[in-house]
Amino acid sequence: MNADHVDPAKEIQVKPWAERVMLGIESSCDDTSIAILRGSEVLSQFTAAQHIHAQYGGVVPEFASRAHQVHIVPVLEGALSQAGCTLQDLDGVAYTRGPGLQGSLLVGSAFARSLGWSLGLPLYPVHHMRAHVVAHWMADAAPNPTSPMLALTVSGGHTQLLDVASPWDMRVMGTTLDDAAGEAFDKVAKMLGLDYPGGPIVDRMAKDGNPDAFAFTAPKVAAHDFSFSGLKTSVLRVLEKELAGGRKPSDAFVQDVCASAQGAIVSILVKKLEAAALQMGRSAIAIQGGVSANSGLRQAVLDLGSQHGWTVHVPPFRYCTDNGAMIALSGQYAAERNGEGALDEAPLARWPMQ
Ligand code: KG4
Ligand code: ZN
Repeated sequence: MNADHVDPAKEIQVKPWAERVMLGIESSCDDTSIAILRGSEVLSQFTAAQHIHAQYGGVVPEFASRAHQVHIVPVLEGALSQAGCTLQDLDGVAYTRGPGLQGSLLVGSAFARSLGWSLGLPLYPVHHMRAHVVAHWMADAAPNPTSPMLALTVSGGHTQLLDVASPWDMRVMGTTLDDAAGEAFDKVAKMLGLDYPGGPIVDRMAKDGNPDAFAFTAPKVAAHDFSFSGLKTSVLRVLEKELAGGRKPSDAFVQDVCASAQGAIVSILVKKLEAAALQMGRSAIAIQGGVSANSGLRQAVLDLGSQHGWTVHVPPFRYCTDNGAMIALSGQYAAERNGEGALDEAPLARWPMQ
């Protein structure tokens, strides 16, 4: 998927898009997810989440890579049987090369390259952050983008504003200076004694809370960048006050903190998205990555779109958090553009987009 892999001199010898069956393997963090696509149609997607991390309040890299080892074969078998396919039906193997946790990437990439090599199939190393954006072009993610768009990737590890011209042409305009948006959600949850991953729980609790109960102000950060560490400190102060004298936080208090923190995070994200879209003159906006599953953010982005008359791209939930389908679709575009990878490509825990 990365432009580095495109060799225009090499002759394209791949099946046409609509017939080509692509396997996608995602293992960059704690989800083992494998999908099979024909063209951009998802035939199957099988995902194994890892629950062991909940008791530690965050992903423990060593446990994550061990769990990928255990899950990856059954997940592949699940994806094949759900699609009604055998390994012989595959035309290519796409996998997440990075960025992500080194041990987790090693499991998926070694497995993918072994599979590709033994079946004699082309390999497509995929950039995880690009793949989150590519998910908007999935056959069942209507409407597919038809014009340049301003896109916001919000996940557990990244927050990025991107100007996106096509599935293979995108430019990072801004990023977080400290915590990622998902990390901010997870840390608020942890302070409140909620489980990991905290984002979905905060989302749920916020529904019964008052978003104006606490004023968590937005930090002043230049241009298109983000910062969420201040919010974490503000939540901590509110919590210390509430817990003074050994009091236990009431359900109503926890719900109000969740609603107020979610409101603050969403407001920071949406303001930056709006400013960037106006600056670039874009009339389409998008959100993607795990935090794009957040109900408050989804609604705020839809409202922003109707306010300006912009097209809004919000992925179906199954393509928000890490998923094999976005990796397989990225492989499809790489195959179109002759972006085949080599057998000896090691995973890249850090992999800048430009
Ligand atoms: O994209 P993703 O699955 O993995 C990474 O690439 O990091 O994102 C995971 C993040 C976690 O921080 C999780 O708490 C957050 O997405 N998340 C949410 C929601 N669902 C997942 N955050 C807020 N609200 C949600 N509904
Ligand atoms: Zn992700």
